[in-house]
Amino acid sequence: MSESQSDFLPFHCSWFEDDEINEVVDTLKSGWLTTGPKTRRFEEDFREYTGCGYAVAVSSCTAALHLAFATQPFERGDEVITSPMTFPATVNPVLHLGMKPVFVDIESGTLNLDPEKIEEKITPRTRFLLPVHFAGHACDLDRLQDIADRHQLTIIEDGAHAMGAGYRGKKIGGHGHPVAFSFYANKNITTGEGGMLTLPDAEMEEEARVLRLQGISKDAWKRYSKEGFAHYELQTPGYKYNMADLNAALGIHQLKKAERFQEIRVRYAEMYSKAFAGMDAVETPEVRHYADPAWHIYVLALNLDALSISRDEFLNAMQDRGIGMAVHYRALHLQPYFKNHHDYSLDDLPLASSYSDRIVSLPLYPRMSEADVQRVINTVCTVLKQHRR
Ligand SMILES: Cc1ncc(COP(=O)(O)O)c(C=O)c1O
Repeated sequence: MSESQSDFLPFHCSWFEDDEINEVVDTLKSGWLTTGPKTRRFEEDFREYTGCGYAVAVSSCTAALHLAFATQPFERGDEVITSPMTFPATVNPVLHLGMKPVFVDIESGTLNLDPEKIEEKITPRTRFLLPVHFAGHACDLDRLQDIADRHQLTIIEDGAHAMGAGYRGKKIGGHGHPVAFSFYANKNITTGEGGMLTLPDAEMEEEARVLRLQGISKDAWKRYSKEGFAHYELQTPGYKYNMADLNAALGIHQLKKAERFQEIRVRYAEMYSKAFAGMDAVETPEVRHYADPAWHIYVLALNLDALSISRDEFLNAMQDRGIGMAVHYRALHLQPYFKNHHDYSLDDLPLASSYSDRIVSLPLYPRMSEADVQRVINTVCTVLKQHRR
């Protein structure tokens, strides 16, 4: 029997209060909607929050990744080592720039790129390492840096899940590489759509700012300010990737709540892990000693040998009982594009191939109550019990 719509716990729901609403109204009343003073303030606040060198606000994390690569030297055909356990956005900019994503298998427990397996995939064309901090659990950046140094590779971090995450006591963004963050609607803080590119040096920042807005030297805010008329100059063909003040208005106030939201996520993730610990039908996520996870998502792996249903049947059973579910992710090398254009076999990436068919994401967001979390736990336990082999 299906739950009525009002009993349905959505997989995600954003949380805005009067401060976000007032800031958006203030932006509308100001008459300045696009990139301007609020975007600048959000960048500055974000820089302070993460401890990064420089922060450039953009229209999405995908845009931030594209800019991060575009500001680096590379040649078409160069190879980028990354994880197959990610959203297509991680590799789409790589493909658009004419480079080749090379997938390395993930490690169990964190589902992050396995550093042990990287070196066997390095060729003379390898130019970048592109780790994804899956679910907001940091990759082992020191080990990746060691590999990058020995093979002259550049690291660009996909931090879409990792705003607020820590690695060895420092927030992601502060480890000396370009990092792309997402503020998409379901992320730990949101601007509706949006992203941030953090950078370690001023030269990269300057280049990213120019590329962010059509490759021109002055943004609209500066051109129309009281400092006198200033013509723009086209420096290089750029992109239309700037963040609007309307979006930054949300980000400024969401960022102030980042720590509060984070505490709630950690508490709920601990409730899940405690409830499912020791069950042979599921595997819970592991936390490594070097990581303070941002818990963007809570991913449970089903042990299908212990169950009489498939992952998709499990998802349907949960949704029929009123719990919104998701899958992060069906591995990229198994998607039609990569099957048709690249020759990956299941055996090349055995862990990613296996997890791809048996992971589920449970609802995890600050607007849920503890009672909601308990309801998810009870429902998981009921479905598992009903379908034990
Ligand atoms: C791992 C990963 N990278 C990149 C992105 C792209 O983010 P955006 O939607 O802000 O472009 C996402 C989006 O969910 C993601 O999950």
